[in-house]
Amino acid sequence: MEQLGGVSLEALAATCGTPLIVYDEVFIEQQLREAKEKFRSNLFETQIVYASKAFSCGAIFEKVKRMAGGLDVVSGGELYCALNSGFPPKDIYLHGNNKSKSEMREALDAGVGTIVLDNLQEAEALAAIADKPIDVILRINPGIEAHTHRYIMTAHSDSKFGISIQNKEEINKAVTAASSNSKVSFKGFHMHIGSQITEASSFEKAVDVMAKFTSDVDAPAELISLGGGFGIRYTACDKPIPIGDMCGRIISKCEKAFAHANKRPRKILIEPGRSIVGEAGHTLYRVGFTKEAGSKKYIFVDGGMSDNIRPALYDAEYSCEICGKEKCSNDAENEAYCIAGKNCESGDILIKEAKLPPASEGDLLIMHSTGAYGYSMASNYNRLGRPAVVFVKGGKARLVIRRETYNDMTRLETNERIIL
Ligand code: LLP
Repeated sequence: MEQLGGVSLEALAATCGTPLIVYDEVFIEQQLREAKEKFRSNLFETQIVYASKAFSCGAIFEKVKRMAGGLDVVSGGELYCALNSGFPPKDIYLHGNNKSKSEMREALDAGVGTIVLDNLQEAEALAAIADKPIDVILRINPGIEAHTHRYIMTAHSDSKFGISIQNKEEINKAVTAASSNSKVSFKGFHMHIGSQITEASSFEKAVDVMAKFTSDVDAPAELISLGGGFGIRYTACDKPIPIGDMCGRIISKCEKAFAHANKRPRKILIEPGRSIVGEAGHTLYRVGFTKEAGSKKYIFVDGGMSDNIRPALYDAEYSCEICGKEKCSNDAENEAYCIAGKNCESGDILIKEAKLPPASEGDLLIMHSTGAYGYSMASNYNRLGRPAVVFVKGGKARLVIRRETYNDMTRLETNERIIL
């Protein structure tokens, strides 16, 4: 790969420096469009609610807003960024398992459309302060867990999110508590079964569970959110179903499942994050030194766990290539490199083994599918600056987030005045 969106990657790296996260805008737009077109029904209203935790900035909010999608935020900070970019508050859904009263206050004052309640105490707290109209839905835990590439059913659940579907009493109490304030309109239920789920059957199972649950529960169920979690391709081993097919399968399952349910929702939501931005993003690193240690050949790059914590945190796998150097078709002629970052930590390995043509100092290494939960979980550990972010499309590149500078590193420090 030498260019993206008609823009030379070498030219981008030379202009903006590295590490640099480059997003293919067309890919993001296609994912949003596909999801919107396929997640449609004659029976229900539908909405694609982008989970902004995957990657948030004004440029992405703008795209979601333009296609009339909704936005999932999980904190006052995410809410602030969305509002700051002019995102319509009525299409914002405030999530989170421990919203502070001030975050709820901010949501009420901003005219946020919907709060997704997590637990009974939160329902009580919102009812105590709501002085403006707000819709709420309650997160339930359906007992279907999905982790990375597989899902498992659990009869009991110890997740920190939502109220277990088994715990009818607690669910009823939360509905009653929320509804005790006439400003709060209880609309329905939410579930999210996990992330990086590459097949549709776990979602289909979840839809069945939700349809049965809403039929039985003594509460309105006009708004249902099925959460996010659609898997993407990080390496050749991942075979996710395309987002459009996933959305098609889920909505047709909803049509079947809710046809027999005695409550039919008016509106159904899904909340994809990773699948909208993940494969659109690529990180450019400049190769520094290479080193042999024991049986390993290292390529050191000028970023690492500070711009992508996922390999260290989840053993996440990625693929990469060297810009302008073809991989040998005979794999035996490629080198097996360990791609290591420059953070001061043994676990700072971005890719354990990448088969690449011989690499040398100054090469540009491109790591793929870094668009979700990379920048959003980045830190400035070791005082490495967070990378710059660029959007490319039609031969043009625009800087959407500038690189964190040395100056930024000290900007929160104070003159240590006595405060107590
Ligand atoms: N809705 C809810 C309620 C969620 O909790 C999440 C993700 C999403 C939607 C979006 O899920 P997605 O479509 O992006 O998979 N940091 C981890 C992922 C954490 C996901 C948290 N919740 C990672 O890097 O893999």
